[in-house]
Amino acid sequence: MSAADVLGFDPFDKGFLRDPYARYREMSARGPLFRTRGGLLVATTHELCTVLLRDPRFGRGSAEANRNNPGQPVESFLWLDPPDHTRLRALVSRAFTPRMLERLRPRIEAITAELVAGLPEEADLVSGLAYPLPVMVISEMLGVPPEDEERFRGWSEILARGLDPMLTDDLVSETGRARREFRDYFRELSAMRRERPGDDLLSALTQVRELTEGELLATCVLLLVAGHETTVNLIGNGVLHLARHGLLAHAAERPKQVVEEVLRYDPPVQLTSRLAMEDVELAGVPVPKGTLVMAVIGAANRDPAAFPDPDRFDVTREAGRHLAFGLGIHFCLGATLARMEGEIALSALAAAAPKLELADPAPPYKENVVLRGLAALPVRLPRP
Ligand code: HEM
Repeated sequence: MSAADVLGFDPFDKGFLRDPYARYREMSARGPLFRTRGGLLVATTHELCTVLLRDPRFGRGSAEANRNNPGQPVESFLWLDPPDHTRLRALVSRAFTPRMLERLRPRIEAITAELVAGLPEEADLVSGLAYPLPVMVISEMLGVPPEDEERFRGWSEILARGLDPMLTDDLVSETGRARREFRDYFRELSAMRRERPGDDLLSALTQVRELTEGELLATCVLLLVAGHETTVNLIGNGVLHLARHGLLAHAAERPKQVVEEVLRYDPPVQLTSRLAMEDVELAGVPVPKGTLVMAVIGAANRDPAAFPDPDRFDVTREAGRHLAFGLGIHFCLGATLARMEGEIALSALAAAAPKLELADPAPPYKENVVLRGLAALPVRLPRP
C-alpha cells in the first residue's frame, strides 16, 4: 500500500508540497472524518479538529515507551499525557509567560534590526532573517553558545523531518542518531551549567531536583527544535504571501492581525494526531481504543464554516480562531514568543524595505509535510 493510500495524500508529491490545500479540500468534501484507503481516520474540519484536540479521551499514549526506558526517555512532554505532561510542562512554562517574554522584546528587536540591516539588495530571506532570528532567540533563552549552532542545525533539521508520517527506514535511523547526538551534546552542556549556572533556562532546569536527566535532555531538545523549525516558516510564509498580494505595508501598520492571518492561511505546523485512550465516538463514527486519528490543522484553517472565503489571503479578517498553535493541554508553549518574533520581523522588514519584490515567484519548499515551509526565499530589496 502506498503512502498516499495510507494518509489520503502523497507526502512525496511536489505538487502536494507546493499546495497541500487543494488535496485537503477534496478530503474535507467527503465529510468531517475522512477514512483513507489504508483505514486511517483524518479530521479535516475546524469543529472536529477542535473536538479532537480538546477531548481528554484522546491522548498521546507514549508513557509506555518512556517506562521501558526509565533512564533515557524516548519522548518529550509534547508526546506525553498527564500527569507526566503536566509536571514537565509546568517546569518550563514560567519562561514563556507574556510577562517574561516582554522582557525579551528589546533583545528580539535588536537582533531583528541587525539582521535586516545586514540584508543585501538581493537576499535569501530564509537564511538572512527568518531562520537566524528565532534560532538566536531560543539559543539565548536556553543558554546555548552561539558558536555551537552549526552542530545542532543538522540534528534539528533531521528531527523536524522525523515528525513526518511514513518515513523511510533510512530516515528513521537518521532520526535516532540525531536524537542521541543532540542529547549527548546537552548532557555535556548541562553538566557545565550545573557547576556554574548562568541566567538561562538550561541552568534553571539543572537545579530542579525532581527532573531526571533523561527528562531534562528531552525537554532541551524539544525547545531547541521547536525554536529552529517553526517560526522560521511563519516569517518565510508571511513575507511570501504579503509580497505576492502586495500587502507588505500592512505588516508595519497592524502586525498582530497580519501574523494571525499568515498563521491561519499557511500554518507552519500542518497536522498532528491523537490516540483514542478508550472507545469513543467521533462525528458519529465509532473509534475503538488505540485508534490513531490525524487532525489536519492546514485543512481546519481553510474550513469555510469557520472562515468565510477561506482560500483568500485577507489581512483584514478576524483570523484569531485558527488552530495553528493547536488547542487543549498541548497548546503551543511558544505561541506568545512566536507571535512576537513574527510581528517584529515582518514589521521591521516592511519598514526597512517597503519595495521588497520576490525574485522567484514560486520559491522552493522543503520536503517536510508536518513542518511545512520554504527552503529559500530569494527577494530583491530596493532600499528607499
Ligand atoms: C509559528 C511558530 C509555531 C507554531 C505554528 C507552533 C505550533 C505548535 C503546535 C500546533 C503545537 C501542538 C502540537 C500538538 O498538539 O500535537 C505546539 C506545541 C509546542 N510548541 Fe509550538 N509552535 C511554534 C513555535 C514554537 C516555539 C518558538 C516554541 C519554543 C521555543 C514552541 C514550543 C512548543 C512546545 C514546547 C510544544 C509542546 C506543548 C505541549 O505538549 O504541552 N513552539 N506548537
